[in-house]
Amino acid sequence: MYYALEAFPVSEEIWKSLNYTATDSEVSKFRQMHNAPWQQWQPMDDSFTLFKEETTLQVAALPPNHFDLIYFDAFAPNKQPEMWELPMLEKIVSAMKAQAVFVTYCAKGQLKRDLKSLGLVVESLPGPPGKREMVRAIKI
Ligand SMILES: C[S@@+](CC[C@H](N)C(=O)[O-])C[C@H]1O[C@@H](n2cnc3c(N)ncnc32)[C@H](O)[C@@H]1O
Repeated sequence: MYYALEAFPVSEEIWKSLNYTATDSEVSKFRQMHNAPWQQWQPMDDSFTLFKEETTLQVAALPPNHFDLIYFDAFAPNKQPEMWELPMLEKIVSAMKAQAVFVTYCAKGQLKRDLKSLGLVVESLPGPPGKREMVRAIKI
């Protein structure tokens, strides 16, 4: 089950013009995810159910101790600093179960210190192509 938060969804015109998919099966999955209605659970296949919530992280009511894994893909701290401030991280960490994992492409020292201050065990890992480091943090 995958719960996704998106404040400003791209238009159909834009997502249809993206070249993120190669095979017919990827094209079909990509369309299915984009066409899925918002604000409700939708089965994508036998093992993947998606909920797309159109709201901001600031407004979203996240259930406590609920998520196993957080993919945090906000715009970079120098572009959207409010997404990386302690109250936002605190909100996310409260919504994580014990042993849950938080991952992000950002590897700034302040982020690592903030995650540690919230009780997470923080590691730096090799990043994807073009990125030296990424962060994985585990709630204990
Ligand atoms: C770096 S993009 C990642 C998008 C998506 N993960 C992807 O790979 O296509 C950051 C996303 O955060 C969304 N966003 C901006 N402000 C937000 C907020 N306050 N709460 C939730 N999402 C927000 C933007 O609209 C944008 O789609």
